[in-house]
Amino acid sequence: MLNSTHITKSKMWWWVFLVSALQGCGGGEGENDQTMTQAVAQTELDSIIRNLNLAVDPIAGRTLPSINDPLPQLGKKLFFSKSLSGDLDVACASCHHPMLGGGDALSLPIGINAVQPQVMGAGRVDGDDLPDVPRNSPTVFNVALWDTSLFWDSRVESLGKESGQNGAASGISTPDSGVGVVDANAGGNLAMAQARFPVTSVEEMKDTTFETGETNTSIRDHLAARIGDVGEGAGELATNDWLSAFQTAFNSSANANTLITFDNIALAIAEYQRSMVFVNSPWQNYLDGNTSALSDDAIEGAILFFTSAAENGGGCVNCHSGSLFSDGQQHTVGFPQIGPGQGVGNDDDFGRELVTGERDDRYRYRTPSLLNVSVTAPYGHSGAYASLNDVLRHYNNPRNTVDDFFDDDELCDLAQFENVSGCTSLYPDARQNSFRALNKLDDEQDDGTSLFQNVGLNGNERNQLEAFLNALTDPCVTNRSCMLPWIADEVADNPDDQVLIATDINGVNL
Ligand code: HEC
Ligand code: HEC
Repeated sequence: MLNSTHITKSKMWWWVFLVSALQGCGGGEGENDQTMTQAVAQTELDSIIRNLNLAVDPIAGRTLPSINDPLPQLGKKLFFSKSLSGDLDVACASCHHPMLGGGDALSLPIGINAVQPQVMGAGRVDGDDLPDVPRNSPTVFNVALWDTSLFWDSRVESLGKESGQNGAASGISTPDSGVGVVDANAGGNLAMAQARFPVTSVEEMKDTTFETGETNTSIRDHLAARIGDVGEGAGELATNDWLSAFQTAFNSSANANTLITFDNIALAIAEYQRSMVFVNSPWQNYLDGNTSALSDDAIEGAILFFTSAAENGGGCVNCHSGSLFSDGQQHTVGFPQIGPGQGVGNDDDFGRELVTGERDDRYRYRTPSLLNVSVTAPYGHSGAYASLNDVLRHYNNPRNTVDDFFDDDELCDLAQFENVSGCTSLYPDARQNSFRALNKLDDEQDDGTSLFQNVGLNGNERNQLEAFLNALTDPCVTNRSCMLPWIADEVADNPDDQVLIATDINGVNL
């Protein structure tokens, strides 16, 4: 009986009877009814967990570095150093801070030209108050657990997508090589391959005046020479103690030309990020056998999450599957498109199509992980939705929710835009672009290629789903002392006097 397949509504009453019999309660009294409902819900969830084989250790079989290892320690210094940006004003951490969920708490990032480069979150602005980076900054937490691809459009992609490998097994394609083609310089895993690109982006780190018009290789070589204090980069940093930091990390006495290459920079940064594994959530505790780890609402929410829309669930697991809560594939879900867009004109963004050139891939984005999702707002590829509640309303009724978003000028309620003058007319094509994506979703649903099922969740069910999503957060990520090992120290992690000590707009250290 315990191996029975999915529990349907018709079987439910039988379970109610069974559970009540086991508990020796006759029913009828309110309190007993409630206990009974809870027991039924837990039994149903446990059956789902068995059927979908959810009780797995998300890091099993992986070789992961510890933050205390020498390479991640070097990587932390590099990740927080503004020396990797053309104009010495942006670090990786400027958009991916450990205390901001591994992101930047903005809808769209401000990279170069920030008025106060140390300020993060609401109040980080550049001269014209408008973000120039077209997509939301995703979390770098758990980057070691991706086996398929990185970026919203999967443009850094493992060719074989072997599970447990983080891209190490069969070659990685990148924007340097083109889709489907191995980039010989990508390095040993997806994190390493990815780390080669932010420094080449004008808006994120490179700036307009550094290595203008030069190749990605020239940009990286120049930065390595700057860090190594050799060749074209010699003397660019007034303070430079990087060589000893590299010698310690690589346990080598080689010189800067040998040791301080961009490959080694990317390796160290990748190992730092790969040490940021935060999976110890209440949900995981429940899977590990702690039956009191989840609230009643979270248990009901979990059932909705893993149940198909046809069976009155949310159908979320169609795409948010596996212990990372992502299938690693790209889908059209039609979240609003705001901001300057990704280079296709009229502030639009074609998503995965920009990588593959396939018209079918327009408006598709990689399913994000939902681990720690309560600390990674705002949501979606352009950060349009401020809350999980907004996201859940979208899944209930995409068209109405996107309509409301534009009717109510919700863009101008986002922390990033609320003080921008003329906010309502910033992106005149945004509504139309967003509806193009919704039309695409309709087309996919009509021709049967979409995994997005229309769901009918009431307010209570959405609250339950939200309780479940909140239970996917590892408490460490909200606790500064727990996160301290990943935050650069102004003295110990500052070989070039360029360390980012980030603050909020009020000057309080993050
Ligand atoms: C100006 C902000 C900014 C800076 C600086 C920046 N990033 Fe990012 N990062 C982003 C954005 C935006 C994306 C998503 C871009 C996309 O998908 O098109 C991203 C994506 C990523 C991802 C992929 C995560 C995933 O799940 O797909 C990783 C890893 C990452 N960045 C690491 C880094 C590293 C390492 C550096 C420094 C070398 C860095 N970032 C610098 C904004 C930034
Ligand atoms: C068809 C596949 C699919 C289904 C089904 C689906 N999602 Fe998503 N989900 C996505 C994609 C793709 C995105 C990114 C959309 C974007 O960036 O525009 C996303 C984004 C999200 C986000 C925002 C995460 C972030 O970091 O920005 C949350 C939260 C979320 N989904 C929860 C859910 C829940 C809850 C359900 C079930 C009610 C669900 N999803 C069903 C594919 C799916």
